[in-house]
Amino acid sequence: MCGIIGYTGSQASEPKLITGLKALEYRGYDSCGVATKEKITKAKGRVAYLEDLLRNSEDMSTVGIGHTRWATHGEVSKENAHPHRIGKITLVHNGIIENYAEIKAELQTQGVKFVSQTDTEIACALINSYYENSGDIIEAIKKAQKRFVGSYAFAIMVEGENKIYATRYKSPLIIAKSKDGYYLASDMSALIPFTRKYYRMNEGEIICLSPNGVELFNAKISTPLWEISNLSIEDTRKEGYDHYMLKEIYEQSTVIKNTLSKRIKSVLPDFSEDGLSNDYFKDIHEIHIIGCGSAMHAGLVGKGLIEKYAKIPTSVFVASEYRYNPPIKKDNTLCIFISQSGETADTFASLEYAKQNGYKTLSIVNAQNTSIAIESHNVIYTYAGVEIAVATTKGYTTQLAILSLIALKLSLDRSTLPLEQVKDLTSKLYNGVPKAIETTLSTRDKIKFLAEKIKDRDDAFYIGRGVDYYLCKEGSLKLKEISYINSQDYPAGELKHGTISLITENTPVIAIANNIDLFPKTVSNLKEVKSRGAYTILITSLRVTDEADCIINLNAPSELEAIFSSIISVQLLSYETALLRGCDIDKPRNLAKSVTVE
Ligand code: F6R
Repeated sequence: MCGIIGYTGSQASEPKLITGLKALEYRGYDSCGVATKEKITKAKGRVAYLEDLLRNSEDMSTVGIGHTRWATHGEVSKENAHPHRIGKITLVHNGIIENYAEIKAELQTQGVKFVSQTDTEIACALINSYYENSGDIIEAIKKAQKRFVGSYAFAIMVEGENKIYATRYKSPLIIAKSKDGYYLASDMSALIPFTRKYYRMNEGEIICLSPNGVELFNAKISTPLWEISNLSIEDTRKEGYDHYMLKEIYEQSTVIKNTLSKRIKSVLPDFSEDGLSNDYFKDIHEIHIIGCGSAMHAGLVGKGLIEKYAKIPTSVFVASEYRYNPPIKKDNTLCIFISQSGETADTFASLEYAKQNGYKTLSIVNAQNTSIAIESHNVIYTYAGVEIAVATTKGYTTQLAILSLIALKLSLDRSTLPLEQVKDLTSKLYNGVPKAIETTLSTRDKIKFLAEKIKDRDDAFYIGRGVDYYLCKEGSLKLKEISYINSQDYPAGELKHGTISLITENTPVIAIANNIDLFPKTVSNLKEVKSRGAYTILITSLRVTDEADCIINLNAPSELEAIFSSIISVQLLSYETALLRGCDIDKPRNLAKSVTVE
């Protein structure tokens, strides 16, 4: 949700701001802008457009801030684009000032005029009014912090200065150090071309960056504790693929191996390298899994496996509901929070709720050192690498890999499966799954053929039973988010209780059916829609030939291999369909990758 960048140093700031903003576009791409000591330049639309506007710029100003927006308050327009300037203050903001209307009314009585519809301009005006009164920017920011309700990461410039001031609350912000000066950004991926040395700001801290140094205010430490990012420039390149999403789909067998390798010892799950003691899971009576979107979908598959292998009651919650409609608390409940970005506001808020209510919390996070990872009692990192495409693929499957391993660890601790079977399943996860993924990737031509079949349809349906239904939820989300086909997921038996009325000639109905016991039932449901005109597609690891109009036969001998293979095929189907429809695959309409507002 909005990307922020800033630079002060010895070199011209504009080109650096543009480089950083391009890397931050995944956080929002409605509009963008940069401010230097000399001028503000804004554009409606992508950073490439802003780059064109600045191509012949002779602005050599060595300080500047930039922003790429995911609109919340106010339409997508140049006026609402950041940076905003009022009086001597120019700023960019990520987050939402919830009490902006009250502050606006107060400032209007003082004669302040606003040109945008944003909460950000109000924040800018408030800081400016405090600054005008005291002449002390740090005091002005401190005073404003006390007034703001909501979330924020601000980068602030004061007229005539070469400094950048920054503060954050609930929205992420890092500063970074290089030979040519100091940077700030919403996350490190924006700064990899310049430096890897960074400091993640704590909530409430105020930082002043000048070309030669950093000052901290409201902080427990006097100088930043620098860390070194493990990202590399290669992580952020397309490496010859047409889209980041395709690259990330193809990386999955490798990143799953990376994620699992240190957590398997003597062919058994072992989370000791994550700091989890051998009896960490032993007294767990119940599990809550909390996440949003695909992360929540991964949680559902995790639930299926945990209940099947370890017999522990597991409930999955949409994070935005968890703290407002909480379940009745029971003792010995483990809350598992899943987040690729580690910054999703709803998931973070649920984590805070769980901690306040005395739950034991464990997070599964991809981006290192992020809010959810830091705030939870324990964290298991997935090693998916940087995920740049807005629609998650490798982020999701590495979450699935960890959840599968947790399910096996739980079954080991509770002896719900014989030791040899746990070993066999662990081996299938580590050795079989990556191979099955590679095999599924080689079916791309068949999937292209299917994409041709569905590309012109307005609606599609995914159906399945049990864990296959949970996979359908992810397949359906992938299809709608990147191809804009209105796709719905249904438990296979449920379609006939109303929704079947939407089936018309050639409506695609995609069934995932890997469970031998449930297979005949799902196939019957497929035949019900076929006889009403649907174009039926069956994704299955079972050996069948004529149960649907088109069959994707997965080469996946076990349940775990089938889970991952099914997902690869629906990811590819969404990708190929979106490609044929001419969609902006890596940056789908209205979306942003890191959702840092509630
Ligand atoms: C869909 C997608 C989203 C995210 C969700 C949670 O492709 O990427 O549904 O899964 O916004 O994001 P994280 O995992 O960063 O908390």
